[in-house]
Amino acid sequence: MLQTRMQAKCDKIFSVPVSIMAIEDSKTYRIRDMRDEDISQVLQIDLDAFPTQWPHPTFTSYHHELRNKLAHYIVIYRANEPQPPAVEKPPAEGSPRALSFIRRLFNHGGFFGLGKPSQPTEYLAGMAGIWMMVDEAHMVTIAVRKAHKNQGLGEWLLISVIELAMRLNARVVTLEVRVSNTIAQKLYEKYGFTKAGTRKKYYSDNGEDALIMTTGDLTSPEYRLKLEQLAQSHRGRYSYCYSGT
Ligand SMILES: CC(C)(COP(=O)(O)OP(=O)(O)OC[C@H]1O[C@@H](n2cnc3c(N)ncnc32)[C@H](O)[C@@H]1OP(=O)(O)O)[C@@H](O)C(=O)NCCC(=O)NCCS
Repeated sequence: MLQTRMQAKCDKIFSVPVSIMAIEDSKTYRIRDMRDEDISQVLQIDLDAFPTQWPHPTFTSYHHELRNKLAHYIVIYRANEPQPPAVEKPPAEGSPRALSFIRRLFNHGGFFGLGKPSQPTEYLAGMAGIWMMVDEAHMVTIAVRKAHKNQGLGEWLLISVIELAMRLNARVVTLEVRVSNTIAQKLYEKYGFTKAGTRKKYYSDNGEDALIMTTGDLTSPEYRLKLEQLAQSHRGRYSYCYSGT
């Protein structure tokens, strides 16, 4: 995934259609565009899914991302669920208390007149995002809370990201993934991603290499058929009720 995030300030023009899936004891999930009020939960998901990532995304960085014309983020959520308790990253070993306090302020958007993020009304289980660069959709993040892994949510997010990329006229979806992250690689391979190269020492936390993976041509009838078949199989496997609107 990308290490830096562009901070352009333009309005978004795209909106994902809401689709619905009921899994996990009939609990219904939906996918929609990410909004400002999601940021506090998105930060929790980030921390849960990428605990070693540094610097960690902040309220401010997502606030900018949601105004970046190139960026498109989606969330998978359940309605009418209580918000999970806030997860706070413990201060690093030997981290001064003042520094930890300042980090907390930044992480909660208390500076620069941004105010506190408003309370979310829905429970977010995962999120994903792309940057559109000409005809390439670069997937910058995809993550599901640990508590909801292995329930088909990551796959549904990936299907939605690829469909979103197609609607935005992307020819390919590309991404970086840690060489050690074989779980994510399996998911990507299932959706036709293949290894296109390596970025040496890409991850600053441990100096790990990144694999660059890319889909085939999204506009080809073969890829569209493959995606449709995989999406159908996913709906059949996980849904009691799954509909697009
Ligand atoms: C990668 C991630 C998003 C997958 O989400 P998930 O909801 O757990 O995955 P799903 O249940 O939808 O599984 C979809 C596919 O992923 C792969 N997969 C998921 N869990 C796996 C596991 N434990 N072992 C091997 N493959 C696995 C399989 O290909 C699976 O398809 P299958 O069920 O037909 O075998 C999730 O593990 C995650 O959030 N990881 C931490 C963040 C991360 O690494 N993101 C990727 C950064 S590049």
